[in-house]
Amino acid sequence: MSLDLAIVGGTGLYQFPALENVVRRSIETPYGATSGPVVCGEVQGRPVAFLARHGEGHSLPPHRVNYRANIWALQSLGARRVIGVNAVGGIRADMGPCAVVIPDQIIDYTHGRYTSFCDADGAEVRHIDFSEPYAATLRADLLAAADKASIVVVDGGCYGATQGPRLETRAEIARLRRDGCDLVGMTGMPEAALARELDLDYACIALVANWAAGCGDQAEISLEEIFANLRTATAAVPPLVQALLAN
Ligand code: HPA
Repeated sequence: MSLDLAIVGGTGLYQFPALENVVRRSIETPYGATSGPVVCGEVQGRPVAFLARHGEGHSLPPHRVNYRANIWALQSLGARRVIGVNAVGGIRADMGPCAVVIPDQIIDYTHGRYTSFCDADGAEVRHIDFSEPYAATLRADLLAAADKASIVVVDGGCYGATQGPRLETRAEIARLRRDGCDLVGMTGMPEAALARELDLDYACIALVANWAAGCGDQAEISLEEIFANLRTATAAVPPLVQALLAN
C-alpha cells in the first residue's frame, strides 16, 4: 500500500473532512500506541491518511504525544510525504494571528521526549543530516499549491519548539527572538527529526493562533482568542492540501 500524503493535525484540526471513503485503522507499533486511529481515505481520488496529533478529543499534551509511534505508523502505511500542521504563536512582525507559514528552520528547546528511533535497544545508530529540517521539494510544492489556490502563506521562518504545555514568558520569547525564532510552538519537534530518520519528506504548515508573549499589545494571551484564530487559519488547510494533491 502507498499513500500520496499523510497529514498530522495539530490543535484545532482533529478531523480532515475532505477525506472520502475513510477507513479508521489502529496501528500497532514497536513504540506503543499512536495518538489515535489513523484515518485512511481519499482526497480527489488519491490515497491520504490523517492522524490527530493530540488525539481526536485533544487528550494528549505536547510532551506526552508519542511522536515515534505516530511517525512510524504513517510510514508503515506507506507514507513517503508527511505534512505536520502545527498551531504556533507569532514572533516576527509579518506572522500575526491567522497567518499561515511554511517554516524552513527549527530550533529545538524541548526536553525529556524520545527524539530518535535510535533509542530502542539494538537499533542502528544514525546521524541524519538536519541542516535543512524540512524537505525542500515538499515545501516548494506547498508554496506552489498556495499560489495556485490563492492562499496567502509566508515562505520561510524559524520554528522554535518549546516544551509546553504552558505558554512562554515574555523573557523566554525575547530570548527566542534573539536566537532567531520567528514562530513558537510545542509540537514541531521531535516530529520533524523522526520523519527524517525514516527518510520521509516532511514539511510544516504553521497556523498562527496568537502573538507570542510580549509580541502583541495584549498583556495576556487568551485561550478564546487562540481557538478563534485557529478556526480561521485552519480553514486554509483543506484547500491547500487539495491544491497540493492536484499538482
Ligand atoms: N507558544 C507556544 N505554542 C503555541 C503558542 C504560543 O504562544 N500558540 C499556539 N501554540
